[in-house]
Amino acid sequence: METKTLCFATNNAHKLEEVKSMLPPEIKLVSLKEIGCFEELPENQRTIEGNAIEKARYVFEKYGIDCFADDSGLEVDFLDGAPGVDTAHYAGKERDANKNMDLLLANLNSASNRKARFKTVFSLFWQGEMYEFSGVVSGEIALEKAGENGFGYDPIFVPDGFTKTFAELGPEVKNQMSHRAKATRQLLDFILF
Ligand code: IMP
Repeated sequence: METKTLCFATNNAHKLEEVKSMLPPEIKLVSLKEIGCFEELPENQRTIEGNAIEKARYVFEKYGIDCFADDSGLEVDFLDGAPGVDTAHYAGKERDANKNMDLLLANLNSASNRKARFKTVFSLFWQGEMYEFSGVVSGEIALEKAGENGFGYDPIFVPDGFTKTFAELGPEVKNQMSHRAKATRQLLDFILF
């Protein structure tokens, strides 16, 4: 069985872990550190798609390796789709997950509609060509934080069909149905078939 090597262009150890756990043995996922990339990746676009492409293109052009990047955002209906492309730094430049969640909960204080969705876009550079895959998971923003698993906004996101947050449900459940799981399955279908 031929092994295919692919770099996941992310500095987020949680994302790397999630995607690694979903891959079959014929794909060897390497991190940025493993290819000698220790710098921050550029992320200057005003769309999730644009940021995914910018990060993946940077790694492909500088390191010449097949790679993909993920850019994600949380869209909340009551806030007209915010925080969206600003999800990572919603409460400020320090990108603090607790502060981000606190601000979102405060902004939804009076909201009866708490519907939201996580969206992710993967930009893949594969054999010199660029491809895009995306995944969405719908749910609601909880009234308060709950759970210890995951990262980012997981303690306040309750996926449709469940009464617990991603952080309470844990990786086995999250990685079956998350935005990232859906995009990963599309990427695998493309690379393996
Ligand atoms: P980025 O794609 O790394 O820019 O992430 C945007 C923001 O969404 C960051 O605050 C992440 O922590 C958050 N985020 C991305 N994916 C997830 C997830 O699967 N669960 C919870 N938060 C996430």
